[in-house]
Amino acid sequence: MSAKRKSKAKPRKKTTALRRKAAPRRVAKKTAPRVATKGHVFAKGRLHISHQRNAFWDEGLREYFAYRDLGMVPLTGGRVRAHVIRPSKPCDKPGDLHFHSLDFQMVYVLKGWARVHFEGVGEVRFEEGSCMYQEPGIQHRVLEYSNDYTVIEITIPADFETVSVAP
Ligand SMILES: [Fe+2]
Repeated sequence: MSAKRKSKAKPRKKTTALRRKAAPRRVAKKTAPRVATKGHVFAKGRLHISHQRNAFWDEGLREYFAYRDLGMVPLTGGRVRAHVIRPSKPCDKPGDLHFHSLDFQMVYVLKGWARVHFEGVGEVRFEEGSCMYQEPGIQHRVLEYSNDYTVIEITIPADFETVSVAP
């Protein structure tokens, strides 16, 4: 007698078309390297967080304002700047008449108020919740701001020229 037993099971059909793809192998990722800059620590990866508790207030364009950079500049290769701006000292006089040479500028008011004069528009009072898109090149002058005036400004590109037209 043969040692082989005859199987009663039918031979299996080829099911290549119905065969499921193997689940992708899960590979443990190494901990993302971290980039520490003033006021925030970012993981090099898909998520970037800047916390208020780590905020660093720096000098910037205006000596009467303080600037908290939100870290978009290195993440966008200099294409975008997002920062929070608040007074570093009370307003004692109107600012200069000026314009900015850039592609995009918007401001959202988080707190306080400000009065700003725009060429061809007149005076505008900004308050908490006001949002402004400022056309590139429009001349304007900050007339007054409250001590708690705080805004988020987003510009494209990150660095741009500001031209003073009159004191
Ligand atoms: Fe301005």
